[in-house]
Amino acid sequence: MPKINRYVDIDTVEREAKKDYIDRHSPFIACADSAKSGEKFAVTVKVGNEYSHPDDFDHFIANVALYNGETLLGRADFVPGTLGGQDAKGQAEVVFNIVPTTKKLKLVAQSYCTKHGVWESDPVAVTVE
Ligand SMILES: [Fe+2]
Repeated sequence: MPKINRYVDIDTVEREAKKDYIDRHSPFIACADSAKSGEKFAVTVKVGNEYSHPDDFDHFIANVALYNGETLLGRADFVPGTLGGQDAKGQAEVVFNIVPTTKKLKLVAQSYCTKHGVWESDPVAVTVE
């Protein structure tokens, strides 16, 4: 079982290297506050808010997954080089188009770095009408 690293607000971190390390591994969820039951709802997950992660053959973001609570909704896998290779300036970013059928969603994203393990976002609550 891999260790799960949880996001820490980088404004509370003093060392620049540590801010970079936390930010570039952490998935960030962007979506509307509410969704309509039975209709398509877009959830964007981007790895790294201010910093980008390397995309080397021995060190890259291998997947991005989206959960509702403990239930896996979807996962996107990457191969190294997709995001620009060694000189990558891009960030892994995935749009999950889901169709909610429950009254609310508790979205949590995870990203997996081949060198630094699993990283988890803060949960995002969405009401479903
Ligand atoms: Fe890494």
